Amino acid sequence: MLSRTPPMGFNTWNTFGPAISDAVIRETADAMVEKGLRDAGYEYLVIDDCWSMRERDPETDRLMPDPQKFPRGIKDLADYVHGKGLKFGIYSCDGVMTCNRYPGSFDHEYLDAETFAGWGVDFLKYDNCFKPEAANGPLLYRRMAMALRASGRDILFSACNWGADDVQNWIRSSGAHMYRSTGDINDSFVSFRDIYMSQMDKFAYSAPGCFNDVDMLTCGMYGKGNVAVTGCTDDEYRTEFVLWCMSSAPLMLGCDVRSVSDATLKLVTNRDLIRIDQDEEGRPPFISRHTSNWGDYFTMVKVLSGNELAVAFVNLDDRPLYCSLLNETIGLTASSGKKLYLRDVFTGEELPPVKSRFGRDVPPHCAFCYLGRIGD
Ligand code: GAL
Repeated sequence: MLSRTPPMGFNTWNTFGPAISDAVIRETADAMVEKGLRDAGYEYLVIDDCWSMRERDPETDRLMPDPQKFPRGIKDLADYVHGKGLKFGIYSCDGVMTCNRYPGSFDHEYLDAETFAGWGVDFLKYDNCFKPEAANGPLLYRRMAMALRASGRDILFSACNWGADDVQNWIRSSGAHMYRSTGDINDSFVSFRDIYMSQMDKFAYSAPGCFNDVDMLTCGMYGKGNVAVTGCTDDEYRTEFVLWCMSSAPLMLGCDVRSVSDATLKLVTNRDLIRIDQDEEGRPPFISRHTSNWGDYFTMVKVLSGNELAVAFVNLDDRPLYCSLLNETIGLTASSGKKLYLRDVFTGEELPPVKSRFGRDVPPHCAFCYLGRIGD
């Protein structure tokens, strides 16, 4: 299975937008290895929109890479990426053009899937722009999913229709392995908060085989790059990463990993958080939101395999807040005499056993996260 756990990797769009090149991809591949990202699980290196010529090859009708950006072609680049122990991804669209007006795969699905397979592509992000009005969205995704299956190569299919047509209801049946369910993220707290909250009642549709993708991470962008807005603080990036991991979301890095900050690298390679994201059962979190004049925060609990569980406090408020969890609310009754044993995933600190209630102060826009188990 290509997506037994949420896919992890890097995508060019957030930082580079159209400014992609052979050099950018090779340097990114090198950085993913040197900085330990590959070994932490980030395996796919994905080129987003703007890699091709504006027209198909007039003789063969095939997509052609832009020779200015990719003078050695895509196969050579994919070989380089594979040589680094990584997997290689590319982008196309179900309409007649991509969002940036390069040729789309509409009515060319089988030809394009064959081209991608021939280049050694392992991952296809498939967008939703310039779709002919009469075309049936679910059918177009099914078409490319089938074309990939017919290509003779294992290619992870990453659908990106921004949540249109109630995508969660049919995308699994198409054969996709992950699916974007929201509009585009940008580098601001408000953006990732709103994207996340729009999916809170839909995580039940995310599971091994096909995961709900809440978009590429902005962690570590600090207001630079193609989707720059205000940028975020390290506390905010920490919140974003905790939210994604607590929800089994695909972890696609979007910052420039060649110059990733130490704080970001430490965050995105945190073994406990990755373990929470990658848990083989892929369960949605139980979320209780606490909104009042006193503040606005979530308490989240994710049941993991091996009788473990993860707990997170997420302060959405502009003020510091005391966030808490009542054992009773997660089904741990007082009469059972059982306690919650928690370890802070950021500091490694073991907390005193929780008999009935646990809480702590959380700075504005920040999150805390714990791995734990139930015991006597
Ligand atoms: C959008 C998509 C983005 C990016 C962009 C490229 O539709 O949601 O993630 O791929 O197109 O043009």
